[in-house]
Amino acid sequence: MLQDKIAQYTDKINAFVTEKADELEQFRIKYLGSKGIIKEIFDEFKSVSVEEKRSLGKVLNEFKQLAESKYLTLKESTENSEAKTENTQQDLTLPGEGFEIGSRHPLALVRREIVEIFAKLGFTVAEGPEIEDDWHNFSALNFPEEHPARDMQDTFFIKKGGEKGDIALRTHTSSVQVRMMEQGQPPFRAIMPGRVYRNEAISARAHCFFHQVEGLYVDENVSFADLKQTLFYFVQELYGEGTKVRFRPSYFPFTEPSAEMDISCTICKGAGCQFCKYSGWVEILGCGMVDPNVLENCGIDSKKYSGFAFGMGIERIANLKYVIKDLRLFSENDARFLKQFKSALI
Ligand code: DAH
Repeated sequence: MLQDKIAQYTDKINAFVTEKADELEQFRIKYLGSKGIIKEIFDEFKSVSVEEKRSLGKVLNEFKQLAESKYLTLKESTENSEAKTENTQQDLTLPGEGFEIGSRHPLALVRREIVEIFAKLGFTVAEGPEIEDDWHNFSALNFPEEHPARDMQDTFFIKKGGEKGDIALRTHTSSVQVRMMEQGQPPFRAIMPGRVYRNEAISARAHCFFHQVEGLYVDENVSFADLKQTLFYFVQELYGEGTKVRFRPSYFPFTEPSAEMDISCTICKGAGCQFCKYSGWVEILGCGMVDPNVLENCGIDSKKYSGFAFGMGIERIANLKYVIKDLRLFSENDARFLKQFKSALI
């Protein structure tokens, strides 16, 4: 009787085929499950006579192996065929996922524009360290010891003492002028872009770090007229022809005479608006003739050579170009802000 049952199920197992995982699972439960047919047959086997056990034992084991190997073979083939269906479901005519092209930071765009304009006048680009000593940041630039002019720039000090004075984060890029002049003899004609640091509370109008471009031109017979013409050309190139400039007397320890340069407001073209506080003018940089003391501090003969220097904030220039009211936007890395500056020149 048990033998008949085994024979009957053997035929069924042999005849069984499927490519579907759920049907195969049904098969597994039916035959190999804990309440399945094999278990049932093994239970029945326990109660057959000793003679029958002898003849049936082998048949029973073969039957179990058949069910198991059928299950394993079908499992493999259903998995393969499922993987195949997944593949064939891909629509190869769909467009691919495009790469989103990043954008330059607005400060990088402005910096590059400044560099390119001055390159046309023969200015090269120089750089210096952001961690600077007192000599390069202050003393060589004619800031006397204990002079209140040092308070014009709130400094982040790093270390007291040192061969060339206290170590600090540079407060302006004018320090690079000194490094450049110490390393050679005129002519010098370079601009020096870089990051500077000041100990200021962060707000929409001030930040503890920002960017500047320093300019330096030293040679024989350099005059204030050269300074004016160079900066006038720069402004026409950057903001368009017809932009007016005016110079106001000012004070910097490292230039004599010193001036601040205003341009006609780029927003209202000089008519007066909120941006220029209805004056029609906006200040963009400080400049002047390099003080002879600075030249001498750097080993340059101030009787033979003269020069001019200027310094501007890149954020300020960018603000005038793009009207960005809050300085903090430049360093927050908000992609929604940065994405707006896609330029043709990547
Ligand atoms: N270093 C000045 C500042 O950070 C800017 C400056 C003014 C630079 C006049 C110059 C200059 O080279 O001649 O405020």
